Amino acid sequence: MGGMILITGANGNVGTELVRRLHSLRIDFRAAYHSTERAARARAAGIDSTVIDYADSGSLDDAMRGIEKLFLVCPAGPDLPAYEANAVNAAIRAGGVKQIVKCSVWDAETEAFTIARIHRQSEKTIEYSGIPFTHLRPNSYMQNFVNYFADPIRSYGVFQIPGRDSRCSFVDVRDVARVAATVLLSTDRLDRAYALSGPEALTYGQVALKLSNVLGRKISYRDIPDEEFRNVTASHGGSSWLADAMIELYHYTIAGHGADLSSSVQEILGQPPTSFDQFARDYIGAFRATKPRVSA
Ligand SMILES: NC(=O)c1ccc[n+]([C@@H]2O[C@H](COP(=O)([O-])OP(=O)(O)OC[C@H]3O[C@@H](n4cnc5c(N)ncnc54)[C@H](OP(=O)(O)O)[C@@H]3O)[C@@H](O)[C@H]2O)c1
Repeated sequence: MGGMILITGANGNVGTELVRRLHSLRIDFRAAYHSTERAARARAAGIDSTVIDYADSGSLDDAMRGIEKLFLVCPAGPDLPAYEANAVNAAIRAGGVKQIVKCSVWDAETEAFTIARIHRQSEKTIEYSGIPFTHLRPNSYMQNFVNYFADPIRSYGVFQIPGRDSRCSFVDVRDVARVAATVLLSTDRLDRAYALSGPEALTYGQVALKLSNVLGRKISYRDIPDEEFRNVTASHGGSSWLADAMIELYHYTIAGHGADLSSSVQEILGQPPTSFDQFARDYIGAFRATKPRVSA
């Protein structure tokens, strides 16, 4: 495959790993950042980079010039359907786009919770565009434990989630990026959707035990009431829309809908998905308590 790939969300969870992978494979790609500084830093590192804002169609037109494939990821929020529609329209205007690989969400097709509904709306926009597509529908990322809970794990040995005793087949972001790269670099798998899970469904208590074993100290899971989660989200600057949408997703998982295992990672990569134990070992540095400084 020789055509240029555009990676949106290049500084995000999947985007960062996808940039790393395509760069190491010496594949022709352009990385689209939202932040100007990140784009400048990537450019300095030799990566073809551009700045986009999903609200600014001009920036999308510039970014899409000459591309053949688009990896599309947008933060979860009420604007996601409109933002991704702006990107799809820019792809149509650019002409020559042969595939859109969309980062969607687990069970989007059910439209059973708000985040599924916004993603499915966007999937439909892509499907109606006439551009061949591949929807990736990952379950919750293992890396969420790094992004959202590494601080309290390091400081207090605890993470707090309104998850009750639900089970979830967490997936490693690196597997999602490997799948995205494989799909972008092939001409198969068009007009299909893939659920992406890890190899096992775990309770948060089991996650705490696995982190404890890898770190060699006790890590605890504290199940918190929804209202406390709302307050914690607000104290970290998260919107009430996001808090409510996440609580809805937790309830969906508590009802037993997050525990299914998908064979897609194995089928597409030809190797099993990364286990939580492996993830925890690889990211041990993020969870390790920093030793108190001792002055000489
Ligand atoms: N987190 C999960 O467990 C999970 C699981 C399944 C599906 N998903 C889905 O994956 C998507 C991404 O979520 P994430 O948590 O992984 O976030 P992320 O991809 O790590 O971050 C979002 C990215 O979007 C970029 N961005 C923000 N505002 C933008 C704008 N106005 N225009 C263009 N780019 C913009 C950000 O760029 P800068 O960094 O440059 O600001 C960032 O790279 C969401 O739709 C979510 O529903 C997430």
